[in-house]
Amino acid sequence: MKIIDVKGLEKSYGNHQVLKGIDFETHAGEVIGVIGKNGAGKSTFLEILMTIRGYDNGSVKIFNNNLKGLSMEQLVDIRKDISVVLQPTHFYKALKVEELLKLFKSYYQSDIDINQIIADFKLEQHRKSFFEKLSGGWKQKVSLAIAFLSEPKLIILDEPTTGLDPHMRNVLWTYIMDYNKKRGGTVILTTHYMDEIEMYCDKVMLINNGVNEMFKRTEEILSMGYRSINEYYLTKIGEEEPIC
Ligand SMILES: Nc1ncnc2c1ncn2[C@@H]1O[C@H](COP(=O)(O)OP(=O)(O)O)[C@@H](O)[C@H]1O
Ligand SMILES: [Mg+2]
Repeated sequence: MKIIDVKGLEKSYGNHQVLKGIDFETHAGEVIGVIGKNGAGKSTFLEILMTIRGYDNGSVKIFNNNLKGLSMEQLVDIRKDISVVLQPTHFYKALKVEELLKLFKSYYQSDIDINQIIADFKLEQHRKSFFEKLSGGWKQKVSLAIAFLSEPKLIILDEPTTGLDPHMRNVLWTYIMDYNKKRGGTVILTTHYMDEIEMYCDKVMLINNGVNEMFKRTEEILSMGYRSINEYYLTKIGEEEPIC
């Protein structure tokens, strides 16, 4: 089943055209990594898929609905099946982890047991901690737990692992992959860590100068003669890989 189908997507901010014709599609159960330099338009692209940012030209279909021309009711219906983690995360400062989970559970009208989520994400030790007092890694863990609360069909994560130590990155990826395997959920995320693309993603998409290259499998990049995704990335964005 096609989850997202994007054709010829264009988006400008004033005179600055950020996306100049993006073609992209994804099927249920895939994990897709979106890469590109800072300012390439990754967040813009993700925000359009999250249905929180408009676009100028092209077509964007989510769950087979063309976003242009949808009524507010239809949009709300689509959003029920999408969870997002924005970059950076802005959560209510005065709330404790458990309170945040309860709040979002009520927003999502979710049947999920909060204690189960706390157990699954190993949040027990911070159940009563204020969100704003947590380290970056723990904040991301809580954000991810919230994203999973609604049992979405599609999760869109903007740089979920940026700035985290290798252990915490691994913890987050374990949850993402678990969700993907157990629920057949589709995951689209941006990352600057090429090792994550190589280890976890089915598909990879590079946004560069407003257009994209898309690979059905990350191995395709290696079979083109690149020694690593990193080498491919640096070659494409016009910067050489340092020798040492
Ligand atoms: N709301 C906005 N208004 C004007 N320009 C924006 C806005 N959001 C992003 N941009 C610009 O669009 C370009 C792409 O930004 P972004 O999508 O955040 O890229 P990335 O996530 O790849 O770093 C950047 O040059 C950025 O400055
Ligand atoms: Mg961004």
